[in-house]
Amino acid sequence: GWRIEIKKYPKLTRISAFRDETVVGHGGTSNVYDGERYGGFYTQKEVKEIVKYAQKRHVTIIPEIEMPGHSQAVLAAYPEIGCTGGPYEVATTWGVHNEIYCAGKEATFTFLTNVLDEVIDLFPGKYIHIGGDEAPKERWEECSDCQKRIQEEGLKNEHELQSYFIKRIEKYLNSKGRRLIGWDEILEGGLAPEATVMSWRGVSGGIEAAKQGHDVIMTPNTHCYLDYYQADPKTEPLAIGGFLPLERCYSYEPIPEELNSNQTHHILGVQGNVWTEYMNTPEYVEYMAYPRAIALAEVGWSQKSDKDFKNFKKRLEHHYKRLDQLHVNYFYEIPKPQSVKDFFPFLKSCKIELTLPKEEAEIYYTLDGSHPNNNSKKYKNPIKLRKSATIKAITYLPGCSEYSKVKTITAEKLDYLKAVDLNGLKQGLSCKYFEGEFSKIRDFKNNYLQEELTTDNFTIPDLARNSNFACEFKGFLKIDRKNIYTFYLTSDDGSILKIGNQIVIDNDGLHSATKVQGSVALNKGYYPIEVKYFQAGGGATLKLDWNHEYVEESSIIPVENLFHK
Ligand code: ACM
Ligand code: ZN
Repeated sequence: GWRIEIKKYPKLTRISAFRDETVVGHGGTSNVYDGERYGGFYTQKEVKEIVKYAQKRHVTIIPEIEMPGHSQAVLAAYPEIGCTGGPYEVATTWGVHNEIYCAGKEATFTFLTNVLDEVIDLFPGKYIHIGGDEAPKERWEECSDCQKRIQEEGLKNEHELQSYFIKRIEKYLNSKGRRLIGWDEILEGGLAPEATVMSWRGVSGGIEAAKQGHDVIMTPNTHCYLDYYQADPKTEPLAIGGFLPLERCYSYEPIPEELNSNQTHHILGVQGNVWTEYMNTPEYVEYMAYPRAIALAEVGWSQKSDKDFKNFKKRLEHHYKRLDQLHVNYFYEIPKPQSVKDFFPFLKSCKIELTLPKEEAEIYYTLDGSHPNNNSKKYKNPIKLRKSATIKAITYLPGCSEYSKVKTITAEKLDYLKAVDLNGLKQGLSCKYFEGEFSKIRDFKNNYLQEELTTDNFTIPDLARNSNFACEFKGFLKIDRKNIYTFYLTSDDGSILKIGNQIVIDNDGLHSATKVQGSVALNKGYYPIEVKYFQAGGGATLKLDWNHEYVEESSIIPVENLFHK
């Protein structure tokens, strides 16, 4: 998918940024598809915000505009810059695809330089990454335009045509005062004169580039691919493959022995790659990135003689405490006990089942908030509760006397909220729209009021036209069946959900799109419901979903259940 707004080519975000469905499991071996449209992109405004955020923290973001391969999604929108002219579709499987930009047609270069113009304006750093990897040459071999280009430019083959392509783009970037980075495939057919190379297919590309006097970033898939498994795949969430445990990552030595002292300065540093096709939540990305990113950082700034894995592991314990405080979902060798949910709302009693990915392990837990150890209660059967509790559980490996990190599960006993009797209600919600700069829900008051309207659901009304606004939705929720209802409030920035007199979800404050859940027990009848939301610049999101025990998936509250006076 294409992931960045380019003003000159609106079809990139209308067409190229969305696929019809996604392969389930491993692309290449699976024939199962999920049937769900998927996509999204960063607006230029969001990019500016991210770049600024990073800049304040002394981080430079380098964009990668992939070419000539991995570009089938672009061709789906602009088929005239492919070799065959299409039709093309945005791919629904992962991996390497044959449909790449035509290197013979001038229109390809017009398109790419126009795109790069906008990219250059957004990213102030000195480098622009242009990909260059995994570009099958089948189409070029059969394309009269590409073959004509090979002849006219006196090129030997399609590898030299790729080299022509990259060199031409480099010239353009250099003319704008920027430098080109490409994956090690850009060595094939001859390196562009000023290019910096990212060595990913092992280290040989990096060594060769440095010997030719080019700068290099080392990111060999043998040590730096943080999307590879870090433990037995049987006990891990689905990943692309490979096996790259922490120790192997830490053992990496980025300065190749093959280089002499006049060449080593070309090794600029290391990079960890976290390709996210199998990672569909931020938590999973964290799980794959940490703690291996910490190991790679140490690889990057340490002399070989100073490295010591045992000592690193000891110091890692301090990092784990920091990561815990930051709620980073890092990988740890001994997996925590698992449960189907982390939050269990219940009425009279509930049973919480814990499971282990390893048979030889034991679970110990506490209910009073204290830190468990193997003197705590041993888990045998599902834990039965009659009142609210916080379960803290650990996995214990008797053979090696080691613990996992603590798994925390919250169980909350609910009482039914009282319904109200009402009649003469109208369908929909009443919504007040405010404009002003807010950073907390309590900041907006009636004097900022712009309009009052009726809406079908708790989403940002179309009339929201300012980047600083707020909405207050009020109405009544009709409940047809007594039950525990769980609500999921997603917002960027802050929001609050109130039902009856109870704040069910507090998702207030300045933040990116964040989903918070809360549960209430509701009888048949009507309940006053209120959502307050504000937006303070940048991306705007508001969504309220619900579910209950009779439905598996959460969904938006239907308008049939929403009323106002
Ligand atoms: C890559 O992993 N294809 C650079
Ligand atoms: Zn072509």
